[in-house]
Amino acid sequence: MSALRFDILTVFPEMFESPLSSGVVGRALKNQIIDVNCLDIRLFTEDHHKSVDDYPFGGGGGMILKPEPIFKAVDHLKQKSSLKESDPIILLSPQGRKLNQRQAEILSNNERIVLICGRYDGVDERVVKHLVTDEISIGDYVISGGELAAMVLIDCLARLQQDALGSAESIEDDSHTSGLLQFPQYTRPSVYRDWEVPDVLLSGNHKEIKKFREMESIKRTLQRRPDLFHGRDIN
Ligand SMILES: C[S@@+](CC[C@H](N)C(=O)[O-])C[C@H]1O[C@@H](n2cnc3c(N)ncnc32)[C@H](O)[C@@H]1O
Repeated sequence: MSALRFDILTVFPEMFESPLSSGVVGRALKNQIIDVNCLDIRLFTEDHHKSVDDYPFGGGGGMILKPEPIFKAVDHLKQKSSLKESDPIILLSPQGRKLNQRQAEILSNNERIVLICGRYDGVDERVVKHLVTDEISIGDYVISGGELAAMVLIDCLARLQQDALGSAESIEDDSHTSGLLQFPQYTRPSVYRDWEVPDVLLSGNHKEIKKFREMESIKRTLQRRPDLFHGRDIN
């Protein structure tokens, strides 16, 4: 199985070093389940100041990431590392479709994904129109750059890769994987400050434990995220 490769176009490649070095993602990198290749778009500038941004036409506050270095960085990937026309080029953007587990599962089947991290007031619209194949948002709020959003996406897709999780870990019961929120979990001690773990979890009766968890999962989803039930059959 070949590693899922991410090519990240960013003005801050150093941001990716530490966050991707620990836990499930760190292990996936070490075991070559995923591969992360950061490209500094500043390297694809041609002017003396290595400018990646410029003032917006029509005026306004922030600076805009220029198109040329981004297009050139993608051309570089096509020429030097065989990026295919069919490989997705994703712009992280608050204007994109909101990431969810279903989309993550579909994206995780790719062999290679290019991630473009916006900065400042965003990227030149010609990048959106003529280069990117998809825009993904991590939620209805604005952060200062696409780097953290890219890391969220990488983490989410890494844990979906075969063999990324240890034998004791599982994605099956995770919130959103089944379409519901996960049931409450407890560990030792069985009594803490007079708060007891539900008896059924200590009973060793696996059939009853499964039933209890399913009910808790449904109850919790109804209470916290009733929207997840829309269009769904509860039996
Ligand atoms: C300050 S934001 C620019 C927002 C832009 N002015 C707008 O209103 O759409 C800078 C960059 O951060 C990233 N970003 C901000 N919020 C995001 C979100 N919710 N999801 C994904 N990326 C986001 C994008 O790459 C964006 O280009």
